[in-house]
Amino acid sequence: MTRALIKLWNFLAAVRNGIFFRLRNLEGRVAIKGRLRLNVPLLCEGAGHVTLGPDVSIGYDLAAMLGDGAVRINARGRDALIVVGEGTSFSNNVQVYAEDSVSIGARCLIGDAVLICDSDFHDLSPDGRRHGVAAKAPVVLEDNVFVGSRAIILKGVTIGKDSVIGAGSVVVRPIPAGVIAAGNPAKVIRPL
Ligand SMILES: CC(C)(COP(=O)(O)OP(=O)(O)OC[C@H]1O[C@@H](n2cnc3c(N)ncnc32)[C@H](O)[C@@H]1OP(=O)(O)O)[C@@H](O)C(=O)NCCC(=O)NCCS
Repeated sequence: MTRALIKLWNFLAAVRNGIFFRLRNLEGRVAIKGRLRLNVPLLCEGAGHVTLGPDVSIGYDLAAMLGDGAVRINARGRDALIVVGEGTSFSNNVQVYAEDSVSIGARCLIGDAVLICDSDFHDLSPDGRRHGVAAKAPVVLEDNVFVGSRAIILKGVTIGKDSVIGAGSVVVRPIPAGVIAAGNPAKVIRPL
């Protein structure tokens, strides 16, 4: 009886994942290295490379959810790279955009509606804004980083291992390992 229930549960989970998992851009190259837990839709868009490590979790039933809560992982341009390490969890409505590279380590917790992007996406000069070249620089979240809800992490930022970013922070400069940082612009509040 128990075995039948487990089989039924696994079957329903597979159906649910099949419904939820959407790969919007067939040009993109997505490598999933193991089990992927999907609680909301995952939209992998763009022509670049996305690698998801084992046991990455997408969405959380009990967290705030806008619309369907979709998580958007968008590696724009053929050379763009997004790598997510083993056991990292994304809450609902997270957006990750790379024109260069975004690397998220293992066992990170990314709160709901967090935005991570490695580019300004537009040239800043008034005339070049629509067609110019945007500034971009890699973003790195080392292992076990916890990013609070609605934080924004911008180009060129590295967040050191184990650090915590406060809810609603705007991170524009590197944050060392083992600290809590918060605010706009985010500054270290205290060591952990
Ligand atoms: C950053 C955080 C972990 C700090 O918690 P804490 O160590 O208990 O810190 P405190 O509340 O004692 O605040 C310490 C100082 O940091 C400031 N601070 C705390 N959180 C802040 C935030 N998100 N943005 C700006 N400043 C913040 C406080 O105003 C306080 O400043 P003061 O000393 O000048 O008064 C917590 O405030 C936070 O943002 N948690 C994230 C929650 C979340 O989003 N969870 C995700 C759901 S999955």
